[in-house]
Amino acid sequence: METIILQKEENIAVLTISRPKALNALNTKVLKELDGAIDEIENDNEIYALVITGDGEKAFVAGADIAEMKDMNPKEARNFSILGNKVFRRIESLRIPTIAAVNGYALGGGCELAMACDIRIASETAKFGQPEVGLGITPGFGGTQRLSRIVGKSKAKELIFTGDVIDANEALRIGLVNKVVKKEELIDEAKKLANKISQNAPIAVGLAKAAIDRGYQADIDTAIMYEAEVFSQCFATEDQKDGMTAFTEKRKVEKFKN
Ligand code: CAA
Repeated sequence: METIILQKEENIAVLTISRPKALNALNTKVLKELDGAIDEIENDNEIYALVITGDGEKAFVAGADIAEMKDMNPKEARNFSILGNKVFRRIESLRIPTIAAVNGYALGGGCELAMACDIRIASETAKFGQPEVGLGITPGFGGTQRLSRIVGKSKAKELIFTGDVIDANEALRIGLVNKVVKKEELIDEAKKLANKISQNAPIAVGLAKAAIDRGYQADIDTAIMYEAEVFSQCFATEDQKDGMTAFTEKRKVEKFKN
């Protein structure tokens, strides 16, 4: 892979989008390599949480590649959108939790990539926006759908219609990010959170993620039945036996299995 760096550290992985000359803009090659990296992550049972970040000081991802899109016809644009959406949906649907460590510009496709993650931590220098209408297009990798789900329909419309770029503190205020930290602390903070999550029972964490995400799309009666389903599935795992036995024996589980 030339544009993606995937590093494993014990039970977490850090995926870096690396195309610094174009501020990590997402072209077809990056999207395909990202797709390949997701295969690797999916097939590795030792990875319990994933951090996604961008290479360099300036950008997380400055969007989909404008130079590549410039001469696209509608059919090519549709295929490009379908590819980006497929890859981002795969990230969103990973069984493990994902944390976007937003180190700079997260515009257009970059904001959309961050929103496909479960949790977003931003550096003080991060900037967010969906500036597509200024280029004569709409967001194309999920922005019209995920932004409204995260910050509400009205704020999403304001941001998408104006193309305004907001700073990290405003992103925190509207609930687009979970936390803002100093630039030099960003990766450590994201890894710390990933490591903290990875101390818990991985099957239970994955099932909780699935229950939140599937339940969010459903009516409450369907959603709570889905919760009962995943809750019961936990009782078929060794982790449940280990976790509850350890509690009754007044000790902590050293390491949950997967
Ligand atoms: N696509 C392709 N190249 C990009 C890019 C992008 N989205 N963003 C930046 N670059 C390139 C620039 O062309 C430039 O390349 P050269 O050095 O070869 O000229 C290099 O990265 C550095 O960028 P700038 O010189 O522009 O850096 P700056 O500090 O002056 O500005 C910026 C930084 C404000 C992020 C500016 O680069 C910018 O506005 N980028 C585009 C942001 C944007 O509109 N993103 C949305 C894209 S559309 C989209 O994402 C659709 C979708 O949903 C699928």
